[in-house]
Amino acid sequence: MSDPKSPRQEAADLLSGLSVDARRPEQPVLLDASGAPIRTWRENYPYTRKIGRREYERTKRVLQIELLKLQRWVHDTGARLVVVCEGRDAAGKGGTIQRFTERLNPRGARIVALDRPTEREAGQWYFQRYVPHLPAAGEIVFFDRSWYNRAGVEKVMGFCTPEQSEQFLGQCPAFEAMLVEDGILLVKFWFSVSRAEQRTRFAIRQVDPVRQWKLSPTDLASLDLWDAYTTAKVEMFRATDTARAPWTVVKTNDKRRGRLEAMRSLLWRIDYDRKDETAVGRPDTLIVGAADTLLE
Ligand code: ADP
Ligand code: MLT
Repeated sequence: MSDPKSPRQEAADLLSGLSVDARRPEQPVLLDASGAPIRTWRENYPYTRKIGRREYERTKRVLQIELLKLQRWVHDTGARLVVVCEGRDAAGKGGTIQRFTERLNPRGARIVALDRPTEREAGQWYFQRYVPHLPAAGEIVFFDRSWYNRAGVEKVMGFCTPEQSEQFLGQCPAFEAMLVEDGILLVKFWFSVSRAEQRTRFAIRQVDPVRQWKLSPTDLASLDLWDAYTTAKVEMFRATDTARAPWTVVKTNDKRRGRLEAMRSLLWRIDYDRKDETAVGRPDTLIVGAADTLLE
């Protein structure tokens, strides 16, 4: 009897013969050896069609105009907005943040994507290195990964001890409550990708020259660690999906639909000046919502 293959080996095997459809470079589709598209995005997904390019562009523009009004309101009122973006590798955090911010005035809107902690930072209070990046009056800050590393990647990859991760889950609600009590608007998005679709995205990163830099050793390791990440995610939600700082889950197997719904969800909940309620609409509850309604 031959040994069962590890998921990583399976993924490597899966790659042989695969290619990316060169006609659609900005939204790559993985093709199998016979040239047929691989449709893993349909896994556990409520729609059978992806949102079309035209509709996506049109809606994105409308929502980006609303985001500019939101930014103006943040600026004029001295509000502070934190948008935490979390999720498994390749869930679409970075791409979504890019669309959130592409039309915003960079003065007043920042993206924080911290590298691994330095030795000095590793010796600090865990939350300390995130605190300097919090917004001042009038600012919006997007966290591409955040203090939640300690509940996810650090825990699963063994970059922290189990005790440190446990302590983090205990302290995080108090930390966030302090931010919220001080008047910071805190929005926490969990971008949710399915297992087969994550594998497809890694495969695309491997074969697409403009995406290879995104494929990290941690990504490859996570192929073997889907279940460990699931356990970590469940514990994270149990500890940190609080009334004051609830999570919002966004299903991202169709990345474009996910991006639009994330924007809508943010705009929908904030009462900024000159809001166009019709343009914002209501978030699609099949795609975006509270953790207890959408988390798998
Ligand atoms: P990303 O998926 O965000 O592009 P990686 O997959 O390379 O980046 O890493 C995932 C996260 O794990 C990053 O936030 C990174 O800083 C963190 N990380 C990587 N190595 C370590 C480490 N040795 N200790 C703590 N955090 C780490
Ligand atoms: C994503 O696509 O989810 C991130 O931006 C990249 C990653 O963490 O793998």
